[in-house]
Amino acid sequence: MKPDFLNHQAQTSPHPLAMEISHANGSYIYDANNKAYLDFVAGVSACPLGHQHPKVNSAIKDQLDKYSHVMVYGEYIQKPAVELTKLLAKHLPTSLQSTYLTNSGTEAIEGALKLAKRATGRSEIIAANHAYHGNTMGALSVMGYEDRKQAFRPLLPDVKFIEFNNEDDLSKITTKTACVILETIQGGAGFIEPKNNYLEKVRKQCDAVGALLILDEIQPGIGRTGKLFGFEHYNCIPDILVTGKGLGGGMPIGAFTASLELMNLLQDNPKLGHITTFGGHPVIAASALATLTEITKSNLIEQTLKKEQLFRKLLVHPLIKEIRGRGLMLAIITPSADITNALILKCQDAGLILFWLLFESKAVRITPPLTISNAEIKEGCSKILKILDEIKST
Ligand SMILES: Cc1ncc(COP(=O)(O)O)c(C=O)c1O
Repeated sequence: MKPDFLNHQAQTSPHPLAMEISHANGSYIYDANNKAYLDFVAGVSACPLGHQHPKVNSAIKDQLDKYSHVMVYGEYIQKPAVELTKLLAKHLPTSLQSTYLTNSGTEAIEGALKLAKRATGRSEIIAANHAYHGNTMGALSVMGYEDRKQAFRPLLPDVKFIEFNNEDDLSKITTKTACVILETIQGGAGFIEPKNNYLEKVRKQCDAVGALLILDEIQPGIGRTGKLFGFEHYNCIPDILVTGKGLGGGMPIGAFTASLELMNLLQDNPKLGHITTFGGHPVIAASALATLTEITKSNLIEQTLKKEQLFRKLLVHPLIKEIRGRGLMLAIITPSADITNALILKCQDAGLILFWLLFESKAVRITPPLTISNAEIKEGCSKILKILDEIKST
């Protein structure tokens, strides 16, 4: 199928991995030759319960047998979306009780930016260097990498950038600022955590000038870092929380959550302040509800930190300079991009799926399903060490 894949399915990477998939189950993906690959990537943090989780699959099938798409977003009362947003509210602070469901993370970012502008009547948006928030025009405007967006300019006006973790930059947040948008843990940049109570300080400055704080938890959210939401580690509650990826349990989703008072502003001036045909889709919402229920009822989140310790204990090698991140959002930093590329490609040949981070060429992504077992972690890590030995000896 490779020629058809390359000729008909539009590609934006000159070198896609092009593995032909047959099926997937638990922590394994199988190619067309039925070769098993241990999955240390989980669809880029999007499959927290692994592949074909029985509770998620039966929720999807049950909903499909009842009804699928019946109406555009928000008109009809559809149980999966109502229960999902209610369950999110149950696990969030009282200031974050109303959720708008979208079709992707980037679309949720668009909604969050619009809400911040609408709520403050201001236009300035402050984002961080090296940030990634998605690929639509608004999300691209707040991406902190000029070379990836230059070709698409003009983008949103009035976007300014600060350095993540640099307190001196906080004075750039002023009474002109509608919102500050940050990833709770910077992903594409190389899994960079906030340091020295940085997020608390951003929160304080936003409060002082009346700007809203948007935290993008599309990657760290839904249990990956040892808490249901990353912000719980940092004593900083955003005005608007953006989630996605893992929330869908392998299905396409995004969500932005705020107070009811804030969210109700999208009802007028103009009315229909954010609309979508498929957001809140019942089958997707059923998958997300089953996923969130399982993650919040099981001990998967606390196990995440134990699994992190196991990874850190096992992954000791002269070519591993550092392991960044938290929980099961980890990145191996090798001495060079060439070593990183060799490791990822050779591991794929050896039946282990690893992947790159968007903007840190020395980083190797390790974001397995939260359901990964200790035995599977050991199996994957021993492959990584063996291949690093081979790379070192060449
Ligand atoms: C932090 C962050 N924000 C936004 C997005 C965009 O989400 P989506 O790809 O679902 O549009 C991603 C996806 O990688 C992400 O990691």
